[in-house]
Amino acid sequence: MLEALSPQPADALLGLIKLYNADPRPEKIDLGVGVYRTASGATPVFRAIKAAEARLLEQQDSKSYLGPEGDMGFVRALIPHVFGAGFDASRVDGMQAPGGTGAVRLAIEVAKRAGVRRIVMGTPSWPNHAQIVVATGLELVPFGHMTAEGTADLAALEAVLATAGPGDAVMLHGCCHNPTGVDYTPAQWDVIAPMLAARGVLPLIDLAYQGLGEGMEADAYGLRAVLAAVPEALVAYSCDKNFGLYRDRVGAFYAVTGDAGALTRAMANGASIARAAWSMPPDHGAAAVRLVLEDADLTALWLAELDEMRDRMREVRDRLAAAQQVGPVPMAPLGIQNGLFSMLPLTGEQILALREAHGIYMAGSGRINIAGLTAGNIEPFIAALRAVTA
Ligand code: LMR
Repeated sequence: MLEALSPQPADALLGLIKLYNADPRPEKIDLGVGVYRTASGATPVFRAIKAAEARLLEQQDSKSYLGPEGDMGFVRALIPHVFGAGFDASRVDGMQAPGGTGAVRLAIEVAKRAGVRRIVMGTPSWPNHAQIVVATGLELVPFGHMTAEGTADLAALEAVLATAGPGDAVMLHGCCHNPTGVDYTPAQWDVIAPMLAARGVLPLIDLAYQGLGEGMEADAYGLRAVLAAVPEALVAYSCDKNFGLYRDRVGAFYAVTGDAGALTRAMANGASIARAAWSMPPDHGAAAVRLVLEDADLTALWLAELDEMRDRMREVRDRLAAAQQVGPVPMAPLGIQNGLFSMLPLTGEQILALREAHGIYMAGSGRINIAGLTAGNIEPFIAALRAVTA
């Protein structure tokens, strides 16, 4: 039987981790997979999470099952941070998911069960978005996310929405767009929100980097503007980056609707999908996040750590932007983009040359992880960029 299986390429992005690790050159630079790094290149566990983990070790007296929705204390503790302190809690319910990927999968599966047949999505996007849509058997309707000038293309979204309606879900990145770093401005969100409502589409917002762009509140602007305008929406949330919990797989899926019966059914469907896929999400990371969010001191420590990360990425962006133009690559826009990623207009050959000749690893799309750059390697990176594009 198994010989009938077709070969599968390794995931290009995750494959970079192995390639980078196998490279013996000490000056190599990892701009691949999206993990935050400090100025010394480390991806440490947050101090707030370490403290919460110590408490967990001390206090947790059982590892008995929780159920397919996971740790509901975690799910609820996030709500004011995601939806805003004044959000009407009766409109929202959620469940834990294994990372942002699990949350996106749940959201799309629930949308499918609700009758959604097409997912409208800006491209480029995180490659896994399209893979998940394909895996669920829904149709992907792409539109261009970015203008030639490197701003978010509101007109393209407007045009695709004119062809969309009930039965369509529109997937939007809440902040820190992956892979471009190009976010909608608050003024654009103010146009998008009523447009989504007028078309009767189901917004599906992926918020995987809250706090890494402009701050926890500012990064939720778009999501909150949309939720103020539409009757219902789905949200996929990740704590992998903003709590640094990557491999612990901490995410949440939320449904928002004013219809209490529909909310109950959205959660029941989410639970049955989870049960058949992973049964229950892993507990540890979510329990640690819950302890952080239940404790004012740990919350303050976590937010301060997030500020540090954001400030460092802003410094890196400012230094890259100061280069203005490197060969054909405009660098100034990197200064106004957000989050871990930006995308450089490089050819496949140039990306390969950066890797082979200079030990610089980045995604095949030209996406770079801003946090992979430090005071020590920015100038060599810019020099290598100049060399391969000359
Ligand atoms: C990334 O885009 O690098 C991260 O979201 C990691 C992943 O799962 O792809």
